[in-house]
Amino acid sequence: MSNQWAPGSWRNKPANQIPEYPDSAELARTEETLRGYPPLVLTGEIRRLREMLSKAADGDAFLLQGGDCAESFGDFGTDNIRDTLRVLLQMSVILTFGAACPVVKVGRLAGQFAKPRSSPTEARDGLELESYRGDIVNSAEFQAGARTPDPRRMITAYAQASASLNLIRAFAQGGLADLNQVHSWNLDFVAETPQSTRYGELADRLTETLEFMAACGLSADTTPQISETDLFTSHEALLLPYEEALTRQDPDERWYDCSAHTLWIGNRTRAPDGAHIEFVRGIANPIGIKCGPDIRNDDLLYLLDILDPQNEAGRITLITRLGVENTLAKLSGMIRAVAGAGRKVVWSCDPMHANTHVSSSGYKTRDFKDILSEVRAFFQVHASEGTFPGGIHIEMTGRNVTECTGGAHAITEDRLVDRYHTLCDPRLNASQGLELAFLIAEELKNRRSANNAHAVDHLMR
Ligand code: PEP
Ligand code: CO
Repeated sequence: MSNQWAPGSWRNKPANQIPEYPDSAELARTEETLRGYPPLVLTGEIRRLREMLSKAADGDAFLLQGGDCAESFGDFGTDNIRDTLRVLLQMSVILTFGAACPVVKVGRLAGQFAKPRSSPTEARDGLELESYRGDIVNSAEFQAGARTPDPRRMITAYAQASASLNLIRAFAQGGLADLNQVHSWNLDFVAETPQSTRYGELADRLTETLEFMAACGLSADTTPQISETDLFTSHEALLLPYEEALTRQDPDERWYDCSAHTLWIGNRTRAPDGAHIEFVRGIANPIGIKCGPDIRNDDLLYLLDILDPQNEAGRITLITRLGVENTLAKLSGMIRAVAGAGRKVVWSCDPMHANTHVSSSGYKTRDFKDILSEVRAFFQVHASEGTFPGGIHIEMTGRNVTECTGGAHAITEDRLVDRYHTLCDPRLNASQGLELAFLIAEELKNRRSANNAHAVDHLMR
């Protein structure tokens, strides 16, 4: 591999999953326009996230990454963003307060538009069209013209990402994230579930703690962390013409992809000699790598050599998406290979993508039980390897959807039809998200008590 990197050097490599735009002049004009636009996120924020992720690599923080499978132009609006943030904030408070662990919050938001597909075309009733690749590329509508990749969609995506970020920043700093509001984050449709009651109890305890702290002189006036939070954005680094156009060089001379704070490489585009790895190797953002069951340990180590030659904690998050059986069968081998090479990474678990199946009623779904089992297995294997289970990566929404079966509302396959809204993969709804957060908080707490017991044992010897 040539070591010369430039924002466009990926163009000399084999590129999977990038659409052919029939109008190449329009594509070039769009890229030029985007190059002239302001960055969506600032390089200082990206460095701050990297610093926070280095704590998760060291076992001192937990990464909570979640949001839509695919954002869409049609579903764009304040309520959607606010409700997703509310659930992320609730999950984060369950982890921070329930497990006394700082949480790094990253949304799959403000740019998660492009989707990799298992087949380039889709056939229905004898008609074969290009596959839908996310609203940034083409339309989901099954009609001839609608599926043609249109570069101008990148401009719409940029505008939507920019308006979303504006709202996210306002919410993070302007009241919604205030810990004194924990009760109001509970969404109405979650009421009357065990998760809601449990969350209400936790919120009561937190409110009491805040009152105690205020009596000691620690309030939002003296301690801004009480009323404000850091919310970062992420998406899959898939549509490289868009990512390249938003890449900027900082006065520190490093290049940053300013479309999001962190990007991940999907399971289908992580070929070491491919365009996607070439692109991300030259940007200084924290990078996630999705690791499916077919990844080989030597390939994984080779990817780490390419993407993180200096072995810097916070640079790489390995997002395992293995399914429960492969988590039990393969994760310890992966951990040993990575630890054996002296590598500092954040280990995060995506319990969604290996647990997808089609229901008898024809919906792409996931069983919440399988998701919980994979998370438990992830914690179990890390406990036996003595490594830190540093994060979770989920597809979720604050909307009252019926996309994954199971959970407190006991959604059955024949009820998926009720509120199935996703354009792509099935997401957890709010009560499923809370239940998952309680499980993780328990696991983190157990882990700590086991470590403390171990430390005491050591001291007594
Ligand atoms: C995703 O996270 O939406 C996705 C497509 O994941 P993966 O690359 O792991 O299949
Ligand atoms: Co998905």
